[in-house]
Amino acid sequence: MSPSRRPHHEVQAFFHADTHTFTYVVHEGRAAVVIDPVLDYEPAAARVGTAAVDAVLAYVREHRLTVAWVLETHVHADHFSAGDHLREALGARLAIGAGITRTQARGKALFGLGEEFVPDGRQFDRLLADGDVLHVGAMAIRAMATPGHTDEGLTYLIGDAAFVGDTLLAPDTGTARCDFPGGDAAQLYASIQKILALPEDTRLFLCHDYPPATRGPMPETRIAAQRQGNVHVGQGATGAAFVALRTARDATLPVPQLLLPALQVNLRGGRLPPVEGDGVRYLRLPLNRYGGSGA
Ligand SMILES: [Fe+2]
Repeated sequence: MSPSRRPHHEVQAFFHADTHTFTYVVHEGRAAVVIDPVLDYEPAAARVGTAAVDAVLAYVREHRLTVAWVLETHVHADHFSAGDHLREALGARLAIGAGITRTQARGKALFGLGEEFVPDGRQFDRLLADGDVLHVGAMAIRAMATPGHTDEGLTYLIGDAAFVGDTLLAPDTGTARCDFPGGDAAQLYASIQKILALPEDTRLFLCHDYPPATRGPMPETRIAAQRQGNVHVGQGATGAAFVALRTARDATLPVPQLLLPALQVNLRGGRLPPVEGDGVRYLRLPLNRYGGSGA
């Protein structure tokens, strides 16, 4: 099929300013999927909220969409997923990359989780392997494994659009870090090459943007702009050069403020930890376990 003959589906972006995250609703007719929904979280008070995902729900209702799937590009370390919230609100199903089981096993050890947490992906409705296809109305959604930022990272290919998660950022900000558990800079380079090999007119939709003061947040970029202008992988940067740059830069980055709270929620598909004996849900903070030389 020539690139120009690929379907062009409607894509609506929502920007979560607190965490610089994009959520997408992709639809054709009434059939829709939601990618990377965000649950608000106020860390000082340990309080979750639904303002961001309520805006997504309002759009879904306004357009009378039927959301079949909520799709996660990966286990996010900077925000809480609203995947489970949307699954409940819309009767949708929740999918993520098959590598989630390895990420869950690492998370179970990191947080010292008990028997209630089983690291076999059961918290999701579908674990997608490279090449798996979901059919939603007239849309065909193909999962392309793009690990490196995280183990289970997926890019979703839907018509002429690719939802690349955190593999690529905007050209002027480069790429996402690879120093989280399961991250690997050489893997990320290989994943980015797969994305850059997509047809030239592919619309690339980012999971995050951290814009400089000179521009606003941009959800969408193009292959040519990334090949030419990406400050980490553009201009034909080699794998060795990228790994050296990425590794050196990651060594200077602080642990994200929400990493420890977010991981333990997102490993559960955005479901909050179970209620304890007093009727309250608790997050766990393992002391001196993450970051530093032992990360
Ligand atoms: Fe991420």
